[in-house]
Amino acid sequence: MAIEVIGTGRAIPPQRITNDDLAKRIDTSDEWIRSHTGIGARHIAGDETACSDLALEAAKNALAMAAGADTLTGAEKEAALAEAALTLDLIVLATATGDYPGSPSTACIVQDKLGARNAAAMDVGAACSGFIYSLETAAGLLSINKNRKRALVIGSEILTRVADWTDRGTCVLFGDGAGAVIIEKTGAPSEGPGKRGLLRTILGADGSGAEHLIFRRGGSRSPFKIGETVVKHSCIEMNGQAVYNFAVKTVTDTIGRLLEQEGITIADVARIIPHQANARIVQAAGKRLGIPEEKFFLNIGEYANTSSASIPIAMDELNRKGGLKRSDLLLTIGFGGGLTYGGNLIVW
Ligand code: ACO
Repeated sequence: MAIEVIGTGRAIPPQRITNDDLAKRIDTSDEWIRSHTGIGARHIAGDETACSDLALEAAKNALAMAAGADTLTGAEKEAALAEAALTLDLIVLATATGDYPGSPSTACIVQDKLGARNAAAMDVGAACSGFIYSLETAAGLLSINKNRKRALVIGSEILTRVADWTDRGTCVLFGDGAGAVIIEKTGAPSEGPGKRGLLRTILGADGSGAEHLIFRRGGSRSPFKIGETVVKHSCIEMNGQAVYNFAVKTVTDTIGRLLEQEGITIADVARIIPHQANARIVQAAGKRLGIPEEKFFLNIGEYANTSSASIPIAMDELNRKGGLKRSDLLLTIGFGGGLTYGGNLIVW
C-alpha cells in the first residue's frame, strides 16, 4: 500500500506588491529585503477574502487535476468537481490564520463549500511546518482505516492580515496564498523496488522556543477584554535571529536524518522543496550539507513567506511546469512557529 500524490493546486491573490511598493509606505528598500531574504514581491488578499476562500480555490485546482478535469470549463468542470469532491474521505488543513479563532475549523468551511459530504475535516496548527504535519496526519489516517482512501491536504494563509505593519523587521517577510494536494491510498508498494508515494516523514518540535514566533494576544492566555482600547490587532511577533538559527540547524539535521533513515544520498533526491521563509536559510543549510543550490526549488522571490502554504504552492508550481517527473524523489523541509520542524520524502 502506498500513499500517492495524485493532484496539486494553488491559489494566489491577484494583488501583487513589490518591495519598491512597500518602500513607499514603510522605511525599507528593495535592496535590503532582497539581500536579507531573497523576497522580491508578495501577493496580498483583498479585504473580502478569508483563509477558506484561498483554500477552496487551491483545493478545486488540485481536485481538478486528480479527476482529470483540468481542461474542462463551465458547468462541465463544476459537475466533475462536485463528483470528485464526494470521493474525499478526509480534509486536513494547515493554517495559523484561519477564518475564525477556535471554531469552526477552516477545513469544515472548505468541506461545505466543496460539497465534500463524505469527508471528515480538521485543521492542524503547526505554523510554517503545518503542511508537512498535515500530510503525515492525513497519510496516517488513511493508513489506519481501510474505508478511507482519499484525502485533501491544504496549507492556506492570510499572513499579511496578521502582520504588524509598524514592524519593518517582520511585515516585509509575509505574503498570502494557498496550496493543496490530493493524496490517495493505492496498491503500489511503499518500500522495495518500484516503491511509490510518501516514504517517510520526520516531525519535531521544541516548545521552549514558543516565544520566538508568537501571536501574543487574542487567545485564552491573553484575551482582548471588554472596554480595552485595542491599539494593535493580534499580530505576529518574531525573534528573527533565534528563528534563523533554529531553522538552519533543523533544516540541516532533518535533511541528514531523512537521507540516513532511507539509506540514500542527496544524489538520489531529484528536488528539495523547502519552506520559503528566507533564501539565506536554504543557502546556509545547503552549504553545510554540500547540496547544489539548483536542487532547491525556490519561489520566495515572487510570493514571500506564505507559512504553511509555501510548500504546497511550490509543489504545484514545480509540478505544473513539468519539473516533477514520475518516480522522482522529492524532499520537503520546513520549520516555523511552535517551534516546529519536519520533512517528507515522496516518490512522485
Ligand atoms: N528594511 C530595512 N532595514 C531593516 C528592515 C527592513 N525591512 N528590517 C530590519 N532592518 C534593519 C534593522 O533595523 C537593523 O538595523 P540596525 O543594525 O541599524 O539596528 C538591521 O536591518 C539588521 O536587522 P536584523 O534584524 O539583525 O537583520 P537580520 O540580518 O537578522 O535579518 C531577518 C532579519 C531577515 C528577519 C532574519 O533574521 C531572518 O530571516 N530570520 C528568520 C526569520 C524566518 O525565517 N521567519 C519565518 C519562519 S517562521 C514562519 O515562516 C512564519
